[in-house]
Amino acid sequence: MAAMNMTKEEHSMLDGAQGEGVRRAMEIVVALGTIYGAQDLVPVSHVQVSGVSYKNLGDAGLEFLRDWAAQGARVRVPTTLNPAGMDLRHWRELGFPPDFAMQQQAVLDAFSAMCIETTCTCTPYLVSYVPRLGDHIAWGESSAISYANSALGARTNREGGPGALAAAITGRTARYGLHLDENRIPTHLVDVRCPIHSESDWGALGYIVGKRVANGVPYLRGLDPAACDVTSLKALGAAMAASGAVALYHVEGVTPEATNLLPPIWNFKGQEIVIVGLEEGYEALNTQSAVGTIDLVWIGCPHASLDEIESIAGRLVGRHVRSALWITAAHQVREEAESRGLVTRLESSGGRIVSDTCLVVAPVEALGFRSIATNSGKGAFYGPSHAHVAVRFGSLDQCLEAALTGEWEMTDERAGLGTVSESMS
Ligand code: F3S
Repeated sequence: MAAMNMTKEEHSMLDGAQGEGVRRAMEIVVALGTIYGAQDLVPVSHVQVSGVSYKNLGDAGLEFLRDWAAQGARVRVPTTLNPAGMDLRHWRELGFPPDFAMQQQAVLDAFSAMCIETTCTCTPYLVSYVPRLGDHIAWGESSAISYANSALGARTNREGGPGALAAAITGRTARYGLHLDENRIPTHLVDVRCPIHSESDWGALGYIVGKRVANGVPYLRGLDPAACDVTSLKALGAAMAASGAVALYHVEGVTPEATNLLPPIWNFKGQEIVIVGLEEGYEALNTQSAVGTIDLVWIGCPHASLDEIESIAGRLVGRHVRSALWITAAHQVREEAESRGLVTRLESSGGRIVSDTCLVVAPVEALGFRSIATNSGKGAFYGPSHAHVAVRFGSLDQCLEAALTGEWEMTDERAGLGTVSESMS
């Protein structure tokens, strides 16, 4: 296998001339490049590091980070963090166990020692850094990767925790996969022939597409461009990345590469999929087990925007929830909501904006939640396996109704959605 072309500076990192922490990082970047046949490395303008919760890292992960930081590893490009296992400011009042909180803080201290901003959100594009069309970045967190590649036209592979950290420390990633034009061309043409109304419809659609295309690049048509806002696209991409491994999708007339860069679609030679209904998605994302009362209603997967918070606060005016209601969001978004009086309004209805974490990476069992309702396809997908909860998946209206009554009411809302999708080659 031919060696990669590397600059003098890159060789000096690999040779250890810039310290052991950098050498270790460059070794990872080069190893990934060699495995995937990269010709060279490409500078990255931003890194998002996933693998932050102590629940997933454990003591071994914490030691790994401390060790790397002690070897002098420091990031050389702006680098942000995915959600941690707790709300960093309000963990006590939310009931997070103190021993967990102590270990989680130690993880964050190790990241801080490497000069990483402890943003702790999966939506960095809402608060701190919005990549531009064509920017090379190295992001972990599948929903953010999907949004950056698809909605913004930036370029990132699905980075794992160590790979993203290595890119941050060296300022480079290997040029392969989605950094190259040829891998951004659609592999599947998806004709959506059913109406999409709510954010849970976007999640159900994403679930079905992800199941069908696995790690392919779907090109979706039939969607109303006016309905493709930030909330819809983040829900769609997050679900696609959960049920499949989709890191890039295109939406006709909406996403930048679908309109500007791709070859005419009539030359398309890949597989065609026709989606006539969303039932398959709703069936898969609701757990089969019976659910009595709903312990927690969870909105904000991916982390909620200010608009989403405002809309929820508006719907709850003068009403009070019976179940717990968590809206997970970046702490910067919470601060903005606070300054607009939304936090007080939500709290007077019994809801909470919970920052820095989410149900999938928090120690949910210790918090005592057994059944949840959510409008997120990704949240519903991972709820049973990662948080060991029974899940009811439906629209924001259904979820808020469940929060108010403490119960999930089945409606025939989905009855008109048609049957499962059909596909043809
Ligand atoms: Fe974000 Fe957690 Fe969902 S990391 S995308 S809120 S599972």
